[in-house]
Amino acid sequence: MKKSMKVGIAGLGNVGTGLIARLQDQGKLRLDGELVVSGVSARNRSRARPVDISDYAWYDDPVALAKSDDTEIFVELIGGSDGPAKLAVEAALDLGKPVVTANKAMIAEYGEELAQRAEAKKTPLLFEAAVAGGIPIVRAIRESFAGTELKSIRGILNGTCNFLLSEMAETGRDYDDVLADAQRLGYAEADPFLDVSGTDAAHKIAILSSLGFGVPMDFSQVSIHGVDSISLRDLQLAGKLDHKIKLIAEAVQTEFGVICRVEPVLLPKASPLAMIDGPLNAIMIESVHAGNYTLTGPGAGSDATASAVLGDLSALLSDQNTPVFGVCVGLLSQTFCPKDKISQSESKYLIRAELRDKAGALASLTEKLAGSDVSVDALLQDSAGDSEFAPIAIMTHNCSLAAAEEAVSRVNSLDAVHEPARLIRIESS
Ligand code: HSE
Repeated sequence: MKKSMKVGIAGLGNVGTGLIARLQDQGKLRLDGELVVSGVSARNRSRARPVDISDYAWYDDPVALAKSDDTEIFVELIGGSDGPAKLAVEAALDLGKPVVTANKAMIAEYGEELAQRAEAKKTPLLFEAAVAGGIPIVRAIRESFAGTELKSIRGILNGTCNFLLSEMAETGRDYDDVLADAQRLGYAEADPFLDVSGTDAAHKIAILSSLGFGVPMDFSQVSIHGVDSISLRDLQLAGKLDHKIKLIAEAVQTEFGVICRVEPVLLPKASPLAMIDGPLNAIMIESVHAGNYTLTGPGAGSDATASAVLGDLSALLSDQNTPVFGVCVGLLSQTFCPKDKISQSESKYLIRAELRDKAGALASLTEKLAGSDVSVDALLQDSAGDSEFAPIAIMTHNCSLAAAEEAVSRVNSLDAVHEPARLIRIESS
């Protein structure tokens, strides 16, 4: 007989209504059974929605929906790391009900605690939609690559920032203008600070770090720098140096432990990640023995994210029950790289400054770099035009992060430097 499971859906925003639209037409999907929407919950019952929900039982309280005897699978699409979303997920897990969520903040900040609840009841907690929208990266890393030793996971995990950076560089439009477009197009979080500060990408890479490297689910270990410090001028100068600036999230295995960080990075224009423009996401997986892989696709949006939720629901229909982070929480015992070792790691850097347009200013700047043993590989100065200050971009040879930071702080002590100079790491791919 065809299997049938009753699904309670909390959260009827873009993703929730996208999911309901697909479930109302599920004959077109390849599911091993039937998913029946048994109840829904959202903040506002009377709001106009693109799907008809009048046949479903309504719950004002998502916890009541999670606990209802009519809910066999609980789908959480409310968002927010704690509050009603977490309470409802806890209620479902404690009753041994499988949970599907798109909530990256909740998994990144409370994943370990929630995984313990799921393990105690031997019930699945699935979150494919929490990372990179429709790209099936969670299942790929947790299951398909479970037997593959990984070197690194690097990618573009925030569509809003990628849209911002590519649109600004391409059109010369300013930050606020493009951000307003990203909000209008539905890429940005309800609070776009989560996007531009790098927090959203950090939630996602924290999750992938645990899945891919077996480190504990510890959001505090992610070093986070957003795109809010990047100006149109930075993007233009990077372009003149044949590079693009991208917000890169990465988890890298080193001999000292796993480095987990999100920051704007300079990439050669022809490198694979530099070619990902607009709201797309992309993830490159580098393995020790099995080569390298790149997955690209929509990282946000109603249909793409609903597709990831449906993938999880399909796994539940097939009775799959993989541990939440691939292994039991007690086995997430690998270590993060200590901060002092990260400071010693070597890279090339871009140093961006605005320099007073007067004799000797450039010489005083390069003298400061030499004093920190930072060697210049390439240098570009634009005309100051009508301004007192000339934009300058310096690409360094390999040096430690500590040396580059010291050089920048020495440069910032110069009278000739207007606005603090900034440091952007350069990667070759
Ligand atoms: N705000 C996110 C982004 C979408 O811009 O990528 C879902 O995580």
